[in-house]
Amino acid sequence: MGETALLELDNVTKRFGSHIAVDRLTMSVHQGEIVALLGRTGAGKSTVMGLLMGSIGCDEGGVRVAGKDPSRDFQALRGKMSVSFQTDRLLPWRTALENVELGMQILDFPKDQIRPKAREWLRRVNLHGAEDKYVHELSGGMRQRVSLARALAVDPELLLLDESFSQLDHVTSQVLRRDFAQIVREYHKTCVFVTHRIDDALEMADRIFVLAAPASVRLELRLSAADRADPARMTQIHDQIAAAIGGPDE
Ligand SMILES: Nc1ncnc2c1ncn2[C@@H]1O[C@H](COP(=O)(O)OP(=O)(O)OP(=O)(O)O)[C@@H](O)[C@H]1O
Ligand SMILES: [Mg+2]
Repeated sequence: MGETALLELDNVTKRFGSHIAVDRLTMSVHQGEIVALLGRTGAGKSTVMGLLMGSIGCDEGGVRVAGKDPSRDFQALRGKMSVSFQTDRLLPWRTALENVELGMQILDFPKDQIRPKAREWLRRVNLHGAEDKYVHELSGGMRQRVSLARALAVDPELLLLDESFSQLDHVTSQVLRRDFAQIVREYHKTCVFVTHRIDDALEMADRIFVLAAPASVRLELRLSAADRADPARMTQIHDQIAAAIGGPDE
């Protein structure tokens, strides 16, 4: 896609009744980027994700994913994006393996490919050996891994993650984030993820947006490998983000 944005929000406003959830938000994401959305509770992060995945239509402005309007051109985007949420949304009557198969089944992948691919993705997220366990037999971290494996197995261009790492303890979440970021880069996926933890964003993202409430860009910054290698710089960036997320008055 080169210079064109895979994902674009152009001056987007979204209201729920009289409540403005998104206020003239403009942002774009390029192919292969990992982008983090940060912001206080109620800032409109999940609403932005809903706009991107097409489950919510905007009132003003335009939303484009791969040149299509996700709330209208549903068919054209079928299989191109995958989502994973804070609650893992796994089916309790299916095993880990069968849950990973689900997305591929919905998208009518060839039957003989589904099982091997599901096995491969469970292995890829370090769940080898847990294939036949039911959801209640898995820890929270394992469930998130299954959810991510399911999202990745359909080979989407774009991954949208809303607080996927948030409910896990710090160590589990850190390992999972690292594994996930590595996979996303290795397979050249594009990923937008919502988190309330600055460290998640600092660790994974190429670019970070801090959203004000209602959602508009309060701060946008880019993280380079040089930044990551410089602890003093990272502390500075951390503080800058913390300040943008908020003090009581701005
Ligand atoms: N379907 C809806 N109907 C009415 N109001 C809504 C709806 N969805 C979201 N809102 C409101 O829009 C605002 C933004 O909500 P949103 O869920 O996008 O915030 P968020 O940044 O994801 O918050 P959190 O960090 O708590 O998940 C909130 O004030 C919320 O109450
Ligand atoms: Mg939310």
